[in-house]
Amino acid sequence: MKQQQKLVFGVNGEKIELSNIDPATTLLEFLRTRTPYKGAKLGCGEGGCGACVVLISKYDPTTKDIEEFTVSSCLTLLCSLNHCSVTTSEGLGNQRDGFHSIHQRIAGFHASQCGFCTPGMCISLYSSLSKANKSSRPEPPAGFSKLTVSEAERAIAGNLCRCTGYRPIIDTCKSFCRDVEMEDLGLNSFCKKGETLNICKLPPYDPYSVCTFPEFLKNEIIPSDESSERKLNLVYKNGWDEVEHGYWITPSSVEELMNIMRSEEVENGKRVKLVAGNTSAGFYKNQENYQKYIDIRHIPELLIIKRDTEGIEIGACVTISKVIEAMEEEISTSVEPNLVFKKIVKHLNMVASNFIQNMASLGGNLIMAQRNEFPSDIVTILLGASSSIKIQTPTETRFLTLEEFLERPPCDPQTLLVSVRIPSWNRTHSLSKTEDQTEVYPVSETICSGEPKSMTELFFETYRAAPYPMGGALAYVNAAFFAEVMADEFTGELVLGHLSLAFGAYGTKRAIRAKKAEEYLKGKSVSPTVLLEAIQILRLSVVSKEATPKADYRSSLAVGFLFDFLSPLFENFARSNKRLCVEGPNNEKNSINGHVNSASRINSSDNGFSGRNGDEKKPTSVLISKQLVEIHNDYHPVGYPAKKVAAELQASGEAVYVDDIPSPKDCLHGAFVYSRKPFARIKHIEVDSVLTSPRVISFVSVKDIPKGGENISVGTQFGDEPVFADGLTEFAGQPLGVLIAETWRCAKIGADQVKVHYDTKDMEPPILSIEEAVERSSFFEIPPVLTPKQVGDFSKGMAEADHKIISSKVETGSQYYFYMETQTALAIPDEDNCITVYVSCQLDEYAQVAIAKFLGIPQHNVRIITRRVGGGFGGKALRAIQVAAACAIAAYKLRRPVRMYLDRQTDMIITGGRHPMKIVYTVGFKANGKITALHVDCFLDAGYSIDFSPLLSHTFVTSLKKYNYGCLSLNIKLCKTNFPSKSAMRAPGEVQGTFLAETIIEHVASILSMDANSIRKKNLHNFESLKLFYGASAGDNFGYTLPLTLEKLDSSLRLNKKPEEIREFNNINRWRKRGMSLVPITYEVTVRPTPGKVSILNDGSIVVEVGGIELGQGLWTKVKQMTAFALGRLWEEGKEELMERVRIVQIDTISMAQSGLTGGSTTSESSCEAARVACDVLVERLSPVKLNMMEKTNGVSWDALVSQAYLESVNMSASVYWVPDSSSKQYLNFGAAASEVEINLLTGATTILQTDIIYDCGKSLNPAVDLGQIEGAFVQGIGFFVLEEHVVNSDGMVTSDGTWTYKIPNVDTIPKQFNIEILSSGHHENRVLSSKASGEPPLLLAVSVHCAIREAIKEARKELRSYNNSSNEKCSSTSAMFRMDTPATMDVVKQLCGLDNVERYLQSLVDLP
Ligand SMILES: Cc1cc2nc3c(=O)[nH]c(=O)nc-3n(C[C@H](O)[C@H](O)[C@H](O)COP(=O)(O)OP(=O)(O)OC[C@H]3O[C@@H](n4cnc5c(N)ncnc54)[C@H](O)[C@@H]3O)c2cc1C
Ligand code: FES
Ligand code: FES
Repeated sequence: MKQQQKLVFGVNGEKIELSNIDPATTLLEFLRTRTPYKGAKLGCGEGGCGACVVLISKYDPTTKDIEEFTVSSCLTLLCSLNHCSVTTSEGLGNQRDGFHSIHQRIAGFHASQCGFCTPGMCISLYSSLSKANKSSRPEPPAGFSKLTVSEAERAIAGNLCRCTGYRPIIDTCKSFCRDVEMEDLGLNSFCKKGETLNICKLPPYDPYSVCTFPEFLKNEIIPSDESSERKLNLVYKNGWDEVEHGYWITPSSVEELMNIMRSEEVENGKRVKLVAGNTSAGFYKNQENYQKYIDIRHIPELLIIKRDTEGIEIGACVTISKVIEAMEEEISTSVEPNLVFKKIVKHLNMVASNFIQNMASLGGNLIMAQRNEFPSDIVTILLGASSSIKIQTPTETRFLTLEEFLERPPCDPQTLLVSVRIPSWNRTHSLSKTEDQTEVYPVSETICSGEPKSMTELFFETYRAAPYPMGGALAYVNAAFFAEVMADEFTGELVLGHLSLAFGAYGTKRAIRAKKAEEYLKGKSVSPTVLLEAIQILRLSVVSKEATPKADYRSSLAVGFLFDFLSPLFENFARSNKRLCVEGPNNEKNSINGHVNSASRINSSDNGFSGRNGDEKKPTSVLISKQLVEIHNDYHPVGYPAKKVAAELQASGEAVYVDDIPSPKDCLHGAFVYSRKPFARIKHIEVDSVLTSPRVISFVSVKDIPKGGENISVGTQFGDEPVFADGLTEFAGQPLGVLIAETWRCAKIGADQVKVHYDTKDMEPPILSIEEAVERSSFFEIPPVLTPKQVGDFSKGMAEADHKIISSKVETGSQYYFYMETQTALAIPDEDNCITVYVSCQLDEYAQVAIAKFLGIPQHNVRIITRRVGGGFGGKALRAIQVAAACAIAAYKLRRPVRMYLDRQTDMIITGGRHPMKIVYTVGFKANGKITALHVDCFLDAGYSIDFSPLLSHTFVTSLKKYNYGCLSLNIKLCKTNFPSKSAMRAPGEVQGTFLAETIIEHVASILSMDANSIRKKNLHNFESLKLFYGASAGDNFGYTLPLTLEKLDSSLRLNKKPEEIREFNNINRWRKRGMSLVPITYEVTVRPTPGKVSILNDGSIVVEVGGIELGQGLWTKVKQMTAFALGRLWEEGKEELMERVRIVQIDTISMAQSGLTGGSTTSESSCEAARVACDVLVERLSPVKLNMMEKTNGVSWDALVSQAYLESVNMSASVYWVPDSSSKQYLNFGAAASEVEINLLTGATTILQTDIIYDCGKSLNPAVDLGQIEGAFVQGIGFFVLEEHVVNSDGMVTSDGTWTYKIPNVDTIPKQFNIEILSSGHHENRVLSSKASGEPPLLLAVSVHCAIREAIKEARKELRSYNNSSNEKCSSTSAMFRMDTPATMDVVKQLCGLDNVERYLQSLVDLP
């Protein structure tokens, strides 16, 4: 093999040559540490978030074609990129060379908040545009691309965003589409007030503006010698000075590969890894280090795609994207319709995201399933289609059925999967038999030839049920069914022939065929009795391994799939004049006998299911949205929807987050070593062997706290918390120390290798539930000032009640912040015992205090700097300080800069999240639904430390009080447990309080058999009762906009006949039900004192510092507008220009004391007010100067004024500390949302069909920013109420610790129609320029989705009751009254609809007289 010792590739047009690189280096690591490009971000390191997506371009010297595709750079090994070109978002455009129109449109459509996800989004969109433009579709009109609107939505399907709620990002994508209706695009900054959007107003799109493959790289590839040139045989000299020869090898034939496998080195146990796309590293994260990587993607046999009449043979290294392409081509060129291929393609499209599919190989997937029990979709669907494979070992070549392959012991590393063969099944086939009569490949004879006694048709369906309906989440169960169905020409009876029923991913070692069910069904005519029996047999085959989560649910899914597949055979047969037909892909119907009667198909938008009975309006796949905002001019430019400050920089990836700050010289990296036990003494931390590694520098722990320092990271008025465990661990995940190494990866690997010895002798068991905490009276104290006040006389209220609910229970789960940027800090030691810490934090003042105490130095020695935060949601308040403190002590000890960036798993394990609650309520109410008394016992799990938890006893109650309960009595307990400390997460306590309020309303409604919405109205406050419950924060009557808001929303729904529509739908659909709910919210906020400083520089530019931190919430933008408004009094006609002259700078605790907390929804307004007051001081100083000047000349320009002021030595800097008036520092926010959902009774999947929100922002400071906050908060609320499960193991260790197991809303789970109105409710005397907050309250509106699901479940249970069979009597699951906790995930919904609903339905048919 020709040796090439250099890796050559391009990054954003620059040539990179490397001859010594660690083979385990990923592209992301290289980009972030060895290039100036920081656009690719680390969000998960698992391929699950899209933050790291970059574009790869490859050049074919023969055809001169350039192939472009996206990859997740966190999984792509750098060495696999020889002769490739890499483009990051900076490469599309940047500040210096001009931004790309994608960047500009992202900014103009207000589609970037914290901006951490944005560069990845831009690359995904760019790649889709580029792909569409290369297609042979007709040329689009000028300014547009060939992309279609539905493709535009899919462009970002694998990219997660925690801030925006996706709608504006989708609008940005759609703005490039040839078929877009411009008026459908949302609020943007391209049109002035009153204008309509047209293409000329958008930043022009030029498909050829980016050169993704530079000329110099083309010259590197010599066509004649291409195959050998592409070969790499790199030599690596590692930090230990050991030289690895040929650590990265690219063989060009199977023979060559086998020779390597037979080589002495390998035989002698050299750790060798075959690498295709390396995406498996996203799932199996802690892979061992290998000594040889063999890149098998250049072996032609593994890249073949061979089609013949029998099927298609696909090389193992063909990527999923290429498999889809090849099969699509086969489908489009084939004369006969190929149902099986079409279904496989449809299913493959749901396997991972585009940027994974582009790297992931078919063979890699099969090997992961065979060797490591990976819950593969691909294996299941190929098994269902009776595929076979070819393998090669150093000694033999073998052909096996896929089933045989799966049944073998796990492949050894020397086994090569060469190819996969999928039969085409495009004609009616009989099945050939081997000698032992097992069915193998189909042969091409048709049994229709000759003189048939029966007509035969083939059915093939694939299924999957997963939290993300369109893919991107592993399936709970997947399945693929193949059936031969014969219809007797004379009797019309339908009989099953050959069957293949494949199931996988249900907690099984490998995908299986349900042989017993197949055997039972074969030769039978499908009837309810037969299907019922088959299902009973199936339940015995599809059995999850012990400890598989949701095992019963998975089993019921399998039943549902089989039912969906086979039930048309009897359901439609009865109605269909005894003719057989199947519905083919694209919903065209194929009928054997030319009749079109029934349907059996996969509907990908609905988790593999479709309702068949009455299947009318289906959820739309393209988002429809409307935004109604009023733009006022009263305080211009305040009130104008100005685009977010630095949005283009965020999009291009140039905006600097903490981890983007270039590492100072000699910078080290830290990784936490954390405890695995919830409550134990730490006997010994075995770190010595790890410290011998040359790149590991030190282990920093409690022992390193300097003299005079205290072990404190989180300190509040309620208590404090240590940085590191000191002799005792109090939760699984508690940091014990930090391992410091030369690189991030070495630190992480080293930290994972540290062994900790525990001792639990004579210790109490840990407290791992609220019940245990109550039993052992383990509580934190709530200060009297925060103890909730009782309202009215509870016993009197109960005495007035006609009905009572006594001690009913409900629970809420936790929620993890899932900011896209994990916790991160960079500490740099300075002279004289000083230290500067850059940290991604919402609470820099506390960080300064804590680090000073920790290091035993004065606070003025500690400088905390935060420019921007990649998402906080409360998780970067107190919880960020621990990371900052750990970094600080390491830097202090080692006298070198130290940085930490937590990997997603560590972040999820140690950071905690929202408080879970167990609540018991007792309610009295009248027969008309009026509640007369409520008593609540609420137990919050606060975790092991007190944090901000006592505040929740107040916030919980403020949102609960949105209804008039007559009287309210409360008993709130903060439980101390051995879990990570729970902290404030967006709308802390309020979201649980509002949920409880709605639970009570629904409960009362169920008992009275009344509509829940009427109970809501009956119990809504009038202004008098509002004052009684809320006191001064109720404000004035004029400001109580809630009744009006509710009425407005309600009448618009009635006007649109929503309730009738839903009733009708439910009447005619058995397996899908809809529900709707209209919910009000009331949310109290507190405005806090904030500092501000405004300085006017010599050239007229303005610098503003405020206490608030830019977290993505648009604080800088609002402050900028406010500064221009306030200083505009000196230059009325130049306010717009003043905006351009303002720069808001990062927070620095040394120059901005008392900065306080950025959180609680009010920091933007208080920062604005602080800036305004500072500007007032300057206006006062400058007005006399201006007046003087005016006496001499007419117009005084800003520049002239500033120059004169400088000449006169006016103090051009004003610093203030704004303190809100105590009588008005708390106020109420109001809003209402109506959500309509559809649930699938076979899978439990929820689709949010429509959400309408009206939210009162007062006079919005910036309607675009507030709209973004409303949408983003609502979608985060969907996560809490429907999707996000925070699971722990028996040690209390968080196990939903990454994107595989923790699902935040993605683009497919937001409402299909999403309409927002920002109510401009006029003048509010005590508010900052009449504005009201928007950051947190709208999150509560997502309770409308939960309530709507409940309505739909009620309908499902009604249906279940109608089956009226004996099992109903025994089971409470048909009752109209039921408890539904949060989150209402698919399995919860299905459970409430009856895990055995299919059996009950069939039994009811069997029981029919
Ligand atoms: C975020 C994400 C989501 C995903 N979602 C899904 C999903 O929903 N459903 C699903 O089915 N899959 C899913 N996958 C799995 C994905 O399909 C596989 O990771 C991928 O196909 C593996 O291919 P690869 O080329 O990257 O393999 P690699 O990672 O390169 O290799 C995987 C393993 O197979 C070995 N290997 C590779 N090729 C061969 C060969 N030809 N012969 C012998 N050994 C070989 C390697 O040594 C390695 O041990 C997902 C993956 C990711 C990262
Ligand atoms: S960081 Fe690579 S996909 Fe999340
Ligand atoms: S803007 Fe998308 S994660 Fe913050």
